Amino acid sequence: MTPPLHIGPHTVQPPVVLAPMAGITNAPFRTLCREFAEGGRGYGEGAPTGTPTPTGATTTGTPTPRANGTADRTGTADRTGTTGRGLFVSEMITTRALVERNAKTMQLVHFDDSERPRSVQLYGVDPVTVGKAVRMIADEDLADHIDLNFGCPVPKVTRKGGGSALPYKRPLLRAILHEAVGNAGGLPVTMKMRKGIDDGHLTYLDAGRIAVDEGITAIALHGRTAAQHYGGTADWDAIARLREAVPEIPVLGNGDIWSADDALRMVRETGCDGVVVGRGCLGRPWLFGDLVAAFAGEGEEAYARPCFGEVARVMLRHATLLGEWLGDEARGVIDFRKHVAWYTKGFSLGSQARQRLAVAASLEELAGLLDAVDPDEPWPHGADGPRGRTHSRNKVVLPEGWLDDPYDCAAGIGAEAEVDTSGG
Ligand SMILES: Cc1cc2nc3c(=O)[nH]c(=O)nc-3n(C[C@H](O)[C@H](O)[C@H](O)COP(=O)(O)O)c2cc1C
Repeated sequence: MTPPLHIGPHTVQPPVVLAPMAGITNAPFRTLCREFAEGGRGYGEGAPTGTPTPTGATTTGTPTPRANGTADRTGTADRTGTTGRGLFVSEMITTRALVERNAKTMQLVHFDDSERPRSVQLYGVDPVTVGKAVRMIADEDLADHIDLNFGCPVPKVTRKGGGSALPYKRPLLRAILHEAVGNAGGLPVTMKMRKGIDDGHLTYLDAGRIAVDEGITAIALHGRTAAQHYGGTADWDAIARLREAVPEIPVLGNGDIWSADDALRMVRETGCDGVVVGRGCLGRPWLFGDLVAAFAGEGEEAYARPCFGEVARVMLRHATLLGEWLGDEARGVIDFRKHVAWYTKGFSLGSQARQRLAVAASLEELAGLLDAVDPDEPWPHGADGPRGRTHSRNKVVLPEGWLDDPYDCAAGIGAEAEVDTSGG
């Protein structure tokens, strides 16, 4: 049995984490994934059914110890611990927009009442602004756990030295982590990163040691370089190497987990303390039920194989929750459009019907179109493999001279490196 993951005072059992995904892992999607993790096999019929577990995670009242070796420079009392079946991280929130209380950003810091712990991911390039954002979260009790994103490979960000380009500048990375941990008021701070810029400029082992020095609680490693973007395969050996390099804190492995069995295999092959699952659950939030079953040793028979009718009910529920979250049913349906291809992947749906679903403008229209699918069509096995982004890029765009000296931060990073962007 894989031991639980401890993120500061929070216990995560099984040790599975929903990867932050910009535009995807908002409160509605997190709720769906969590319901399935909690034993829900309701496929859209509302509250989870099956194994009765408390809604959301429970407040234990007894804080568990901090992760071994986690330096506590904050001098504040431990926060109340929670126990959850999985950890469900928000999409990335830029620190500048947060401290400016940008309305759209404030909406992203929304958690459903039942979400515990509330995990927020921040992205920032300026130590002072990151510190202010973290302090705001702690002071205003906006979250229970803060994750910092250093994995974004998007050119408009790396061009300015942000995202996955940033850990190359070791002193800057250290300064950001220092400010974050120092301002967190006892909240656990974790970080997520890639292996480095490219194979010639790997940064993850140095970054890991810096993270330990600065009191980071856990590290998630996506086993790709920025140059790989989402192409090729994730390097799980790198996860094993990081595990060895930072024995003091938990290491979470990330990259190419498409099934619950992949998650078990990653733990077995790398020794990682938990797994972070992203694209595999796009249009498949029930993967979290499979993950819970797999870590409980239940085997493949316990995995979800929803028929089209069940998938359709999840789709409708997802769109409904989005509308409630956005305060506007039609906006919810429009936001849901990006999920249609993932949910319907592999089902025998003509291209016209798929297209109509992807442009539905109201819940009524969406429901009508979903009524027309064959509810008994079984889960298409071909739909289990890779989904979402899979493309690669040839080169990482960086500021001029960026690679000349990992310790020279004189040029600083432009504020443009913190543009609202699409993630990791
Ligand atoms: C649409 C999309 C948005 C993403 N947004 C973020 C983000 O906001 N923050 C982050 O750290 N990673 C982000 N990522 C990266 C994922 O968290 C994850 O590291 C990556 O997809 C690899 O894991 P996977 O193979 O399980 O998908 C994003 C990925 C995708 C596909």
